[in-house]
Amino acid sequence: MALKIGRNDPCWCGSGKKYKKCHENFDAKVEMYRQKGYAVLDRNLIKTPEQVEKIKESCRINVAVLDYVENHIRAGISTQEIDRWVHDETVRRGAIPAPLDFEGYPKSVCTSVNQVVCHGIPSEDEILKEGDIINVDVSTIYHGYYSDSSRMFCIGQVSPEKKKLVEVTKECVEIGISKVRPWTPIGNMGHAVHEHALANGFSVVKEIGGHGIGLDFHEDPWVSYTSVEGSGVLMVPGMMFTIEPMVNMGSGEIWTDETDGWTVRTADGLPSAQWEVTVLVTEDGCDVICW
Ligand code: MF3
Ligand code: CO
Repeated sequence: MALKIGRNDPCWCGSGKKYKKCHENFDAKVEMYRQKGYAVLDRNLIKTPEQVEKIKESCRINVAVLDYVENHIRAGISTQEIDRWVHDETVRRGAIPAPLDFEGYPKSVCTSVNQVVCHGIPSEDEILKEGDIINVDVSTIYHGYYSDSSRMFCIGQVSPEKKKLVEVTKECVEIGISKVRPWTPIGNMGHAVHEHALANGFSVVKEIGGHGIGLDFHEDPWVSYTSVEGSGVLMVPGMMFTIEPMVNMGSGEIWTDETDGWTVRTADGLPSAQWEVTVLVTEDGCDVICW
């Protein structure tokens, strides 16, 4: 049995305010939605304002590192060169690249070229050439707080088909962002992402999704971009998660390279694109805190 928190007791969120002046109304609203049948996230995953500020500091570094990549990426460099930039620019700012040693991952960043869907491992042998598209996925730990975002880059002139894939995938993320509203289910966001990809003749990878983030690299919930409207956990103020659909030019089928255990490729060998942002659900919509 758990004792009900008193209205004059300190709030569970750690703000130091009385419960009645802090999360009492929030909890009542969550309970009402729970009774209506909505899935709700464990409340220890709801970020306090203090945590949000710390996580945003991590995000600022993540964005700066991606800006550095954006300003330097070009044909003729290796993906290992990108790994060096990300490592050095992150460490120079007093932070740690989150991928390094994460579940045995050997590098500081993921670099996914053309038909690589995600988790491409940087290599001296992989040289970027005119016409390539590449996703650079950067994640940062700063004072123990996590951030995560990724961008696509077109190397020189790319084919109109690839350009469209890259642009439509970015639009998918923007449409997803527009569907992030408190007290609505997260499945509405994933559904809108999927619809936009399908409307453009593309497919969305089903097996790999996004995630909550902040105090850990990957927190609940797991986030689908092929979800059904009305499904999934209720988005509530203070919730934080990534929008990072993988959009394929051909079929959505994928396979994971068993020799390195990481690289995910399209089954049909056609290109794949991905952009990733981290959003914070607010009282009246959402705040894109990492892009
Ligand atoms: N950055 C990826 C994500 O968006 C996770 C990569 S895990 C790694 O969730 F180990 F491959 F880096
Ligand atoms: Co992510």
